[in-house]
Amino acid sequence: MKKLLDITNLSISYGNKPTVKGVSLRLDEGEIHCLVGGTGSGKSTILHAIAGISSKGVHITAGTIVFDDTDLLAVDEKKRRQLLGSRIALVFQNPESYFDSLMTVGDQFVEFLQYRNPAMKKETCLEVSAQALQEMRLDDPERLLKLYPFELSGGMLQRSSIAMAMLTKPKLLLADEPTSALDIVTQAKILGELIVLNKNTGTAILMVTHNMKVAETLADTVSVMYSGKIVESGDTQTVLHHPSNDYTKELIRSMPTMEEARLIE
Ligand SMILES: Nc1ncnc2c1ncn2[C@@H]1O[C@H](COP(=O)(O)OP(=O)(O)O)[C@@H](O)[C@H]1O
Ligand SMILES: [Mg+2]
Repeated sequence: MKKLLDITNLSISYGNKPTVKGVSLRLDEGEIHCLVGGTGSGKSTILHAIAGISSKGVHITAGTIVFDDTDLLAVDEKKRRQLLGSRIALVFQNPESYFDSLMTVGDQFVEFLQYRNPAMKKETCLEVSAQALQEMRLDDPERLLKLYPFELSGGMLQRSSIAMAMLTKPKLLLADEPTSALDIVTQAKILGELIVLNKNTGTAILMVTHNMKVAETLADTVSVMYSGKIVESGDTQTVLHHPSNDYTKELIRSMPTMEEARLIE
């Protein structure tokens, strides 16, 4: 497998406070990797650094982030933005904040496509968008495109935001807890759809989650984060069934059993 993302010895501080401490992580083309760990362990900080959307006060103090042979920390802002809008895509926890509440979903899809390809006709944009929504198992996409974001459920909105992210056929999809705000049934369905998307398109997925169950469902490989460090990583089955780190064992113990998961449903 060809290497797609190679993070080496990455250290990040908030002001003077180190929050990510010497993290190395590698993702191959087409791979699904979950970064698992408790709140505040540094997962989102890493994802934001890859995407180049770190907030003010964040300093990358050491390390490299190489995507497809390009050192993301060395390229200029323009090149980075180009990559982000095309070969790297992002999905967030709250799709409500991703969409503009004053525009129809369709107009936002058209704007997204025409920004990248100004010559694309509105009708073509809507056709391409409807197709993308259909691939995320959304019924009647033509009607959906005429609606405003508040007229959609959280699950429909998240499916729509994933569909939009996939429009550029990215090589890497970065997802920060994309199903955490959704009910457990919708969560399971969307994870299933991400797996199908990954199989059909070959887009690699780097997903951040605090939920080991999500990692088990989705990921080929996992890294477990604790207090800014990766304490264990490997293929998902090995880490789940033969964890060597005490914190990993703790995360696994706190996973709901199949029976409990059914009760929650
Ligand atoms: N806006 C902020 N200002 C100061 N420190 C922050 C801020 N956001 C995050 N941090 C620090 O970075 C650490 C890692 O945060 P984050 O990457 O968001 O964790 P996770 O996504 O794993 O929950 C937190 O424990 C916190 O100390
Ligand atoms: Mg986070």
